[in-house]
Amino acid sequence: MRLEILEDEEAMSRRAAEIIADAIRGKPDLVLGLATGGTPVGTYRELVRLYREGRVDFSRVTTFNLDEYVGLDPRDPRSYHAYMEEHLFRHVNLRPGATHLPDGWAEDLEAECRRYEAAVEAHGGIDLQLLGIGRDGHIGFNEPGAPWERGTRVVRLKPETRQDNARYFGGVVDAVPQRAISMGIRTIMHARRLLLLAAGPHKAEIVQRAIEGPVSRHVPASILQLHPDALVLLDESAASRLTRVRPGAERGRG
Ligand code: PGA
Repeated sequence: MRLEILEDEEAMSRRAAEIIADAIRGKPDLVLGLATGGTPVGTYRELVRLYREGRVDFSRVTTFNLDEYVGLDPRDPRSYHAYMEEHLFRHVNLRPGATHLPDGWAEDLEAECRRYEAAVEAHGGIDLQLLGIGRDGHIGFNEPGAPWERGTRVVRLKPETRQDNARYFGGVVDAVPQRAISMGIRTIMHARRLLLLAAGPHKAEIVQRAIEGPVSRHVPASILQLHPDALVLLDESAASRLTRVRPGAERGRG
């Protein structure tokens, strides 16, 4: 696992967008794994800027998102379908049909999980997967204790996660769906490259545990320590609890 510490969230977002844009330049038909939440918003903003400046072309890129809530119509503005439209899809030249999210509105959720996993495989797997980290260490919606050997599956969200996401549901925790469809840890670990982002002091403790603590199912993000090509980008505040600089860690240029 490699680590780069950037001065602030904006610098982290710029760096993340550059890494993604470079990957697309190197492989125009990149299969790109995407994340939602507050953290990647700046990365998407930068990618849109690079696209408008003619510095990245999404016309042959395929995307797969990590997760979607169960029970939300994809047209619901609180769905991750809507989030992706708002922050990225509608602004760039991704082909219609080239973007994929699990359908949390599907009647048969188990069949939908199998369909999604098969679609990832049919595209040859994910080349570069973008990840955030929950305060409880989740990646995708794989909460503490999630099995490592599972692919896309229906998951139950922990109270802390629903609390954190209540801001998208009018501040009402009970309005946050209890379940989601998420790529499994296995799906994520099969991606050829992982890029995890974390910014802000509220992420400092879990970042320290994920990076410096033991690899444990209690901290799903700690499994990145076992991935052959994982890069973690942090801003200074998210890195503030790290107690040692690992070999290969680098202060970003910002
Ligand atoms: P956040 O969520 O980016 O909104 O902090 C991260 C996550 O839950 O993966």
